[in-house]
Formats: sequence, structure tokens, C-alpha cells
Amino acid sequence: MKIVVCETEKEVSKIAADIIIAKMKFNNSLNLGLATGSSQLGLYQVLVRVFEKGVISFEKVKTFNLDEYLDIERSHPQSFYSFMDANLFKHVNIKKENIYIPNSKLAKSASSVAWYNDMLSENPIDIQMLGIGRNGHIGFNEPGTSFDKEVFVAKLTQETRIDNASGFGCVSQVPKYAITMGIKNIMSAKKIVLIVTGIHKAKIIEQMINGKINDKIPASILKTHQDCLVILDKDAASLLKKGEEQK
Ligand code: GLP
Repeated sequence: MKIVVCETEKEVSKIAADIIIAKMKFNNSLNLGLATGSSQLGLYQVLVRVFEKGVISFEKVKTFNLDEYLDIERSHPQSFYSFMDANLFKHVNIKKENIYIPNSKLAKSASSVAWYNDMLSENPIDIQMLGIGRNGHIGFNEPGTSFDKEVFVAKLTQETRIDNASGFGCVSQVPKYAITMGIKNIMSAKKIVLIVTGIHKAKIIEQMINGKINDKIPASILKTHQDCLVILDKDAASLLKKGEEQK
């Protein structure tokens, strides 16, 4: 695992975007694994700007999102579909049929979980973007989830529901379940880029980097991936000692 520490959030987004842009220039039919959350916003802003300048095209790109809440409509303002549409999809030339997000309405039926798993098996992810929860979750793989899981319906921890409550009004409105890529799907990506910003993530980053690989900290498994880059701002890296960036 390679770790880069940046002075600013802007720099974090720029480095992440540059990696995707370089891959898109090399292979215009990239399979891009995407994440939601505030840590990804700057990245999407850069990608939209670069698209508007005509440097990249999404015409042949397929996107695969990590997760979606269960039992909310796509059109719900807090659905991950709405997040992706507002921040990326509606601003670029991606084809609707190339956007893959777990179908939350159908997710309770085993067929929908199987469908998303099949889509991921048929379309190996070239780059998987990730954020991390304060409890170390990636996607919605909460602490204690087996590293062997493929797409499944996850029960969200109360901590995650509290963290994700802004926009829902109150915690009780946050869905209790979500459909998510499992760790096994995430780890099959050829390259993984984890973006982490903010002082509230400093503790989990220190634990992920210095702790044992353990399902209590789902993101710790990333240390075994052959090509994983972690991009931190200086706040998220503030509990790391000098030199630990090399782990
Ligand atoms: C949600 C997503 C995660 C993401 C996390 C971090 O819980 N399911 O995939 O990593 O948010 O969000 P943020 O970037 O806002 O800190």
C-alpha cells in the first residue's frame, strides 16, 4: 500500500483525478468503480472540469458504484444515485445504460444481489475509488464483515447512520440497510484509490495503517492489495508518525 499525504483537500482531489484521467486517456472504455461521500466531491468537480475542456470522454466508460441504500427510490434526494447524478453523471457524456448502481428497490430479492455480482464479474473494475467510514468501513462493509463477502445486503451500524444523517433530517430517517459490494468484489479491482480527508478520520487512519489486518477494521485488508494508493490530507494523516506513509 502506498500512502501520499497532501497539504490540502484540493491537492488530494487533483491527485486522484489525475490517476483516473491518465487511465481514461489510455483506455477510453474504462470500468470505473465509484464511491459516494464528501471525500469524493472534489474529485468529481475536477473530472467534470476536465471533461468540459474536452480532455476526456465518458462515452465508452462504465461506472459501478459501491453501494446504495435499501428501500429508497432512485429519485430520493439522499439516494446514492441522486448523489452521483448531481455531482458527476448529469455533467458528463456517460450513457445511462453504462451506469451501474445496485438496484436498491429489488435488493431484497436474491436475484438483485446476484445481478450486481454478475455485472461485477463480467466487467472487471480497472480503478476502484473508495472513502472510509470513521469505523473503518469501506462501501458498507461494516466492522466484523467477512473479507470473503461478495455483493450483499448490509445492516448499517448506528454510528454509520449518525454519520450519514445530514440530508435525511434525523437519524431515524436514515435507512437501516444497504446493498453493497463485498470486500471480495472491492479487492478484485486492478487498482484501488482510497481518498481520506478531515481530522475526524485521523484515528481510523492511524489504526488502519499501524494495526493488524483484522475484520474489525475492514479497510485494513487494503494493505494486502497489490496496487492500492491511499491519498490523505494533512488532517487525516495527523496521527501518523513521519515515515509511516511508506507502509
Ligand atoms: C458512506 C459510503 C462509504 C464512504 C463513507 C465516507 O458511508 N457508503 O463508501 O466511504 O460514506 O464518507 P465521507 O467521504 O463523506 O467521509
